[in-house]
Order: sequence, then C-alpha cells, then structure tokens
Amino acid sequence: MRGSKVRTAIFPVAGLGTRFLPATKATPKELLPVIDRPLIQYAIDEARDAGIERMVFVNHPSKGAIQDYVLQNRTLSALLRERGKSSDAAMLETLALDREEDAVFAEQAEPLGLGHAVLCARPFVLDGPVAVILPDDLIIGQQGCLSEMIAAYDATTNGHLVAVMQVRPNEVSRYGILSVTGREGAMETANGMVEKPAPDVAPSRTAVVGRYVLDPSIFDALETQAPGAGGEIQLTDAIARGIASVGLAGFHFSGKRFDCGTKAGMLAATLRLASQRDEFSNVLDAFIAEARSPAREPVPAE
Ligand code: G1P
Repeated sequence: MRGSKVRTAIFPVAGLGTRFLPATKATPKELLPVIDRPLIQYAIDEARDAGIERMVFVNHPSKGAIQDYVLQNRTLSALLRERGKSSDAAMLETLALDREEDAVFAEQAEPLGLGHAVLCARPFVLDGPVAVILPDDLIIGQQGCLSEMIAAYDATTNGHLVAVMQVRPNEVSRYGILSVTGREGAMETANGMVEKPAPDVAPSRTAVVGRYVLDPSIFDALETQAPGAGGEIQLTDAIARGIASVGLAGFHFSGKRFDCGTKAGMLAATLRLASQRDEFSNVLDAFIAEARSPAREPVPAE
C-alpha cells in the first residue's frame, strides 16, 4: 500500500505490564511470546503489511529490551552465519527494522496516559495522517486490520478513523465508546466519543479497539488536552474535541480481536494461532479429548 497518505505508525509501549507480573519483572510485556514470536512482532508485521514507512515506538527508559528486539542486530547475524545458521540470520534480518530509516524511539518516562504517549511521538512523525497501534490488541484475520483501515481511509475518509467492535453492555466501561449516528457497510459515523463510560450512560455499545488512523490535527488537540478518565491525558478526549472540525468514523474490521492485555486474552490468542498450525494439532486434539473424557475418580489417600 505504498503511496498511501498514512506513512507513520505510533506504537505506545511504555506501560509497565504489572498485570503480567512476575513474567514482566525482567521482560517487557510486548516481548512475551505468543507461540514463537513476541507480541510486538504481530503489530510490526501488521504495520509493514499496511505500507507504513516509519514506526515510532514510545517507550519507557527501563524497557530497552524492546529496542534490542525491534532493531537489526548485526553481531548476532554474523555469529549465526559463522555457525552455519544462515536461515536463522536471514529470518531475523527480515523481521527487524533499521534505525532511523524506519524505526524511531521516543521516550515516555511517566505514565500520563495514551494521549500523552501519542504526543511524545510528534517530533518523529512524517507528514500526513498517522496510525496508532496498541500492540496489546492482537487482531487475527485474513487481512491485517490496519491494511483494511488505511484502504478505507484513503478511499473515502478524512479526519479520524478508529477500529470498532460491538461489546456487551457490561463491557463498555473498559473501552472508548462512540456516539453513533449512522452506519454504511463497515463504516459507522459518530458525533461523539467517551472514554470508559459507566454502562447506564454509555452512548452505544460500539467500542474502540487499538487501531486508529488520525488526522494530524490530533497533535494540536493533545498539546492542550486536560486530564480525563483516571487522571490521564486520554487520546479519546482529544479525538472527541476534533469531531466538529475533521469528523469521526468507526471501522468494523474483519478479523478477530484478542485482548492480550489480559491473561485470558493472551491464552485465547495463543490457542487461536496454534489451531491454525498443523504442527500443534496433536497437542490440541489430545487436550480436547482429555477435557471431554469423564472425570477420573480421585486416587484415595493411603
Ligand atoms: C485504550 C483506550 C480505549 C480503547 C482501548 C482498546 O484503553 O484508551 O479507548 O477502547 O485502549 O483496547 P486501555 O485498554 O489502554 O485502558
């Protein structure tokens, strides 16, 4: 999709991943494996497939391992080649990004919110609208969610476009929720957006998931954005303030979203990906057969 208006993707990755302690004590959450690749690699692949030219990672100073993972490691490549492991070296080189050309690291030292994280990326973005990818939201489907969104954005939309899905009434308080005014195909138009509303005041059940294509005016809005829900500078609030001038639409993507910010979501994503790979069919079949077999009698104590 080279030639798209959307050239930059921002990855907010500064969170400390406390929900996954102790696993995240020494390993950033974004580097936890979903089968054999770190969570962040799925997001990078999705951005690359969507034709993104520059990826800006907004990181916490304590999480240098993300940088080590994302960028090329020429010493490791040379070592692998010396030891006859050229295919491993080639695989790593294909996955990694080159500093400055296509990967930039910005710092968010304090947890001031998602809106603040996006603002930290401002000095490094290329001209035009920007994509934001929250790597916690792993979206598995035939086509990458961001590719679908950018195709829709380039064809029909300007302003702000956010990925959406329907959630249950008791789940609205975990998401940004749109005030929907109409729907045409995969697109919903909206005249408002509110962060994590209580179920009784939520304007709809159309929830934002972690993919955004935002008009560049978002940065000016974020510069002056007051703290909102949870005392944090919310991306949702800055988007909502821009609706009158640039508009807002929700995009129903075709894939399935897994919330890898939770242990259950991480497990579900792992199982989904495993079910798509023949090499794991024996393990999954055996597990299902065992789970379905009648419970065994407990062994009596001696
Ligand atoms: C963030 C956004 C929220 C969005 C959600 C999607 O919340 O603030 O609007 O619905 O991501 O995953 P978080 O999950 O970081 O609290």
